[in-house]
Amino acid sequence: MECHFVTGGAGFIGSCYVLHARKNGIKVVNLDKLTYAGNLDNLKDLAEDPDYTFVHGGIENEELVAWILKSYEPSVVINFAAESHVDRSIVDPESFVKTNVLGTATLLRVVKDWWKSLSPCEANKLRFLHVSTDEVFGTLGQNDLPFTETTPYSPNSPYSASKAASDHLVRAFYETYGLPIFLTNCSNNYGPRQFPEKLIPLVILNALQEKTLPVYGTGSNIRDWLHVEDHCEAISCVLNRGELGSSYNIGGRAERTNLEIVQLICSILDEKCPRTSESYSNLIRFVADRPGHDFRYAIDCSKIEAELGWTPRFGLAAGLRSTISWYLEHSDWVQNIQTGAYKSWLQTNYGFRNKRV
Ligand code: NAD
Ligand code: DAU
Repeated sequence: MECHFVTGGAGFIGSCYVLHARKNGIKVVNLDKLTYAGNLDNLKDLAEDPDYTFVHGGIENEELVAWILKSYEPSVVINFAAESHVDRSIVDPESFVKTNVLGTATLLRVVKDWWKSLSPCEANKLRFLHVSTDEVFGTLGQNDLPFTETTPYSPNSPYSASKAASDHLVRAFYETYGLPIFLTNCSNNYGPRQFPEKLIPLVILNALQEKTLPVYGTGSNIRDWLHVEDHCEAISCVLNRGELGSSYNIGGRAERTNLEIVQLICSILDEKCPRTSESYSNLIRFVADRPGHDFRYAIDCSKIEAELGWTPRFGLAAGLRSTISWYLEHSDWVQNIQTGAYKSWLQTNYGFRNKRV
């Protein structure tokens, strides 16, 4: 049976990929350090699954990574592991360099050493896919064309700078050693099991708890939203049909301002679980902006559509509706994630944002 070695598989997108792979009969070994964002509840449906293995540890642990490769002999390695939240990268940039840059460098080197030790027939089968972001391309103006695979890198936050560095390392391992890599640069994901530090789950959970809904600046920044299951399907398409050494942009063709997204969530909640007298949108507050806040991201995904036949299946309104239903139906997951560490992050990130702009 084909085996995929997934890193960061207890996080939001990684866990969706692990479930997707198991549904498709692929054996999975998942290495995750279980930082604040790693959550084994995301994979509890696989607790009794003999073809799924969880290993607790970091991608920077070379002995552990080498042991996994030798023991499981995967044909695919997918690197989801990362520090992923822009606001945290502003508070603590070094953690992002440690995991996203140094961790990826170690993972690449250990995979490359193992791959070199394989017979030519086995070595030919290996694929290394690095999951990256559209944020490496920087920011767009209102009328700029969307990012393509050839847009120059111009990252603006410590998070995007660390992801850009990791992307460069992945490309360099292809050029220098011939390691068979793919690179994917995806837009903003949403869906079930997303840690509620990110805009969409934060707004859903705050609204349900009658807390204010913090919108940075004027809410006019634009993001291109993609359902997480569409992202995982795109990753499978790249693994199955992609051109080695290439990068693929993945996006939802669903650009919205942040204010539009928050208002859409409020209107869905108004229908699904109305407040007594007023709309959830009355909880919206404009708060101090994110430093270096990229104005707009937009992805031109015509390459993956034309070459690999992928296209997003979820429309934004329907995807948000099902995502909100998931949070409403998983109160245990919601309760377990709102730990002391989560509350202390809310204090760190929102405590000072008390003035209206
Ligand atoms: P996440 O923060 O939800 O999950 C990250 C996971 O990585 C967690 O399970 C965490 O425990 C694990 N991890 C962190 N450091 C680790 C280490 N040193 N070794 C092993 N595991 C470690 O992130 P996500 O939103 O699921 O993003 C996954 C990947 O996709 C990231 O590389 C991110 O940059 C990229 N990405 C995310 C989005 C998005 O909208 N969320 C969009 C495009 C690309
Ligand atoms: O574009 C892909 C990227 O999308 C991924 O690489 C990142 O891992 C992921 O976190 C995401 O980055 P963003 O910074 O765009 O996502 P976030 O959910 O933090 O914010 C989305 C937008 O909403 C952004 O313009 C900032 C704004 N925002 C965010 C929060 C948390 C608010 O207005 N209020 C908030 O409280």
